[in-house]
Amino acid sequence: MPNSKIEQFEMETKPLKKTSKQKFSDFFYNEETGAIMGRTPESWGKIIIFYVIFYIVLAALFAICMVTFLQHFINPRVPRLQQEYSLIGTSPGLGFRPLPPDVRSTLIWYKGTGYDSYKYWEDQLIDFLSVYKKKGQTAGAGQNIYNCDFKNLPPQGKVCDVDIRSWSPCIDENHFSFHKSSPCIFLKLNRIYGWRPEFYNETSVLPTEMPLDLQYHIKNITDHNRDNANMVWVSCHGETPADKENIGPIKYLPNHGFPGYYYPYNNAEGYLSPLVAVHLQRPRTGIVINIECRAWARNIKYNRRDGLGVVHFELMIE
Ligand SMILES: *[C@@H]1O[C@H](CO)[C@@H](O)[C@H](O)[C@H]1NC(C)=O
Ligand SMILES: *[C@@H]1O[C@H](CO)[C@@H](O)[C@H](O)[C@H]1NC(C)=O
Repeated sequence: MPNSKIEQFEMETKPLKKTSKQKFSDFFYNEETGAIMGRTPESWGKIIIFYVIFYIVLAALFAICMVTFLQHFINPRVPRLQQEYSLIGTSPGLGFRPLPPDVRSTLIWYKGTGYDSYKYWEDQLIDFLSVYKKKGQTAGAGQNIYNCDFKNLPPQGKVCDVDIRSWSPCIDENHFSFHKSSPCIFLKLNRIYGWRPEFYNETSVLPTEMPLDLQYHIKNITDHNRDNANMVWVSCHGETPADKENIGPIKYLPNHGFPGYYYPYNNAEGYLSPLVAVHLQRPRTGIVINIECRAWARNIKYNRRDGLGVVHFELMIE
């Protein structure tokens, strides 16, 4: 028994007897095992293949990241979140101008006579419409403007003109008709990148809740020229029966809605949202009138509580 223990001991210590020079050359090429630099050629082959594949995968991942990054972050004209993915969703909201001084209020109140009284509202509108007035002077935007109509859609990269004179008498020279107790309220559809309206352009499929005067109007338009019915229609009315009576006749300028050729909005240089000037021609004075305006397209959701596709305000002329 003691003998075998010694033998074992000797066997284990045998490699230690190699000289350090021999160990060094063994490192480069070990004749016993055939290893080069501590690995067999087979092992080296496996390691090289592993790293080649590893770096190819790494490069591919990096390329995918780069492409995604460039597509979504570098092009400032394409928003990162589009349509369904965007929080705004696919249904545009409707807004009105001028806005009351208190953001929680929707009451447009003034005294019929006296510049001081309607000055605030006039200034609000002048400010809001200033981009429409100076569009020609803006560098780059001016030459982008194209005179569109229902047969002349804008070429790629061009934007449709919005002619401020078409709102007449709802123009600043005329104080937006506020001084005549027949104020003009402007309506605007919020921009959604890439959104295409689905028009109510056939009289056979108009929704039953659509006001009759608008239905007649659409019928008249489609009888004359079907193309001109490609519009996001707009209608305003008094909310209660009393409001309906007090609101008086309404004129929509320049159209009964937003013409389809302004869509889709794709952030082209100089794009201006189309507006509808709602001219309340003879509203009753001395009483609050509740007014609701609605935008009509098949893909505009209607929800009063969330203000989708509809806007509410009150008018009070003393
Ligand atoms: C009606 O509107 C739809 C889009 O909502 C459009 O595809 C179609 O061409 C329009 N019809 C006419 C006659 O212009
Ligand atoms: C019908 O449309 C034509 C042309 O588009 C217009 O001249 C006419 O006044 C309209 N009629 C009614 C009742 O709206």
